[in-house]
Amino acid sequence: MFVESFKVESPNVKYGDQEIHSIYNYETTELVHESRNGSYAWIVKPKTVVYEFKTDTRVPKLGVMLVGWGGNNGSTLTAAVIANREGISWATKDNVQQANYFGSLTQASTIRVGSFNGEEIYAPFKSLLPMVNPDEIVFGGWDISNLNLADSMTRAKVLDIDLQKQLRPYMESMAPLPGIYDPDFIAANQDSRANNVIKGTKSEQVQQIIKDIREFKEQNKVDKVVVLWTANTERFSNVMVGLNDTTENLLASLEKNEAEIAPSTLYAIACVMENIPFINGSPQNTFVPGLIDFAIRRNSLIGGDDFKSGQTKMKSVLVDFLVGAGIKPTSIVSYNHLGNNDGMNLSAPQTFRSKEISKSNVVDDMVASNGILYQPGEHPDHVIVIKYVPYVGDSKRAMDEYTSEIFMGGKSTIVLHNTCEDSLLAAPIILDLVLLAELSTRIQLKAEGEGKFHSFHPVATILSYLTKAPLVPPGTPVVNALSKQRAMLENILRACIGLAPENNMILEYK
Ligand SMILES: NC(=O)c1ccc[n+]([C@@H]2O[C@H](COP(=O)([O-])OP(=O)(O)OC[C@H]3O[C@@H](n4cnc5c(N)ncnc54)[C@H](O)[C@@H]3O)[C@@H](O)[C@H]2O)c1
Repeated sequence: MFVESFKVESPNVKYGDQEIHSIYNYETTELVHESRNGSYAWIVKPKTVVYEFKTDTRVPKLGVMLVGWGGNNGSTLTAAVIANREGISWATKDNVQQANYFGSLTQASTIRVGSFNGEEIYAPFKSLLPMVNPDEIVFGGWDISNLNLADSMTRAKVLDIDLQKQLRPYMESMAPLPGIYDPDFIAANQDSRANNVIKGTKSEQVQQIIKDIREFKEQNKVDKVVVLWTANTERFSNVMVGLNDTTENLLASLEKNEAEIAPSTLYAIACVMENIPFINGSPQNTFVPGLIDFAIRRNSLIGGDDFKSGQTKMKSVLVDFLVGAGIKPTSIVSYNHLGNNDGMNLSAPQTFRSKEISKSNVVDDMVASNGILYQPGEHPDHVIVIKYVPYVGDSKRAMDEYTSEIFMGGKSTIVLHNTCEDSLLAAPIILDLVLLAELSTRIQLKAEGEGKFHSFHPVATILSYLTKAPLVPPGTPVVNALSKQRAMLENILRACIGLAPENNMILEYK
């Protein structure tokens, strides 16, 4: 059964006018490796840490500024939100289609709230805590191409033509602001697109981005802004001592107009200076150590990297399932071909390399979790190929072959073929990223013994379900397995309203 909303009644939870306060027992373990009777043993000690959470329930008017607003993802997301807001339907060759938010964790998935008369009761994920309604987001942003959003949508060739016709009047007046363009960082084939660029030194470009954000906020009367990079994949920038390894060195390099500071890092610097959340949806190393350091010092949210939309999402499910079932994946080979502008940009070796790196570590935590199947240091063969095939446009093809060792030396090969519009996968993920980033800035917590409430760590691991190569604070384990990432997110939001983690034990029926 499905319910639209629910309220928790518990001595541990107080719903106030402007906040929800919860007291939450975090059940965890403490491990010690100690000598007992002459041999070492692992001792596991269950422990409970009492946390308090405070969630500000005042939902702001949210502005979202996209870097690469006129790209396939940016134009598709903007169009889809308008279509949802305006309740637009359109004729396809099959039926009359209504706008929806399918593919968005916050808008189209549910959580289990309990059982009632033997029936399982589910509620929308978004009913856990007050969140921004995506229909009410004000969009803006930058693009190095000056096309307005209506023409960008047409260029993208993602949405049905009948829908495009209806959306055009809403989008013609939306024009991207000039962007920071550095041809050294993206493929040379993007050059003809770059007719809308900010001039000046890198420091002046950062100042322009800050000015743009302030003006956007003022003009649209939004309470908060989140900035998200959905522009072209850049090459990796060099990380060097003295260049970008600390806040001081990065800011000094900015003043010296150092060539090796990527455009994406410049946007991110501007956001950290303004305390605006910045999310990186592409694979490059925007977050060089000096920038991470800067964000931590300013307590300014950063999250990334690279939307986890298709092939990698499947991988983080399938390998988790195989390894969790005691089956040993030994070879994982992933081919993609796509024909959109992203594919064209990735056809250059240096930008492809960024994607290859971001896709390659996704099975590491699952492999490392099973010392029965894998010896220390052992790893499946893992190969990633991406080819540009203009004819298929945004309709990406992903082909995967997983070969595993099974019982008694047997082999099992699973082959997957997925055909799907890339931007229709990415757009709802962008939505979740900005909605959850905004929500997480309204949550404060403290563990027993901590004097004061504080926000989550500025490196937002809470967003890792949505990213291929989750950015985590230094020293934090990276979790790629999708079900664990989802459970982490859901359970943290549950904790904010004093609910225990979903444990799936259903003891009431045992
Ligand atoms: N679609 C997916 O499923 C998916 C998944 C993971 C990651 N991504 C990443 O998302 C990004 C966007 O994908 P897309 O399909 O929308 O690509 P796209 O090429 O259609 O759009 C990118 C836009 O960014 C603009 N741009 C480039 N450099 C810029 C800069 N410095 N400042 C401002 N604008 C700039 C381009 O003009 C273009 O309009 C790519 O890096 C892609 O790898 C996409």
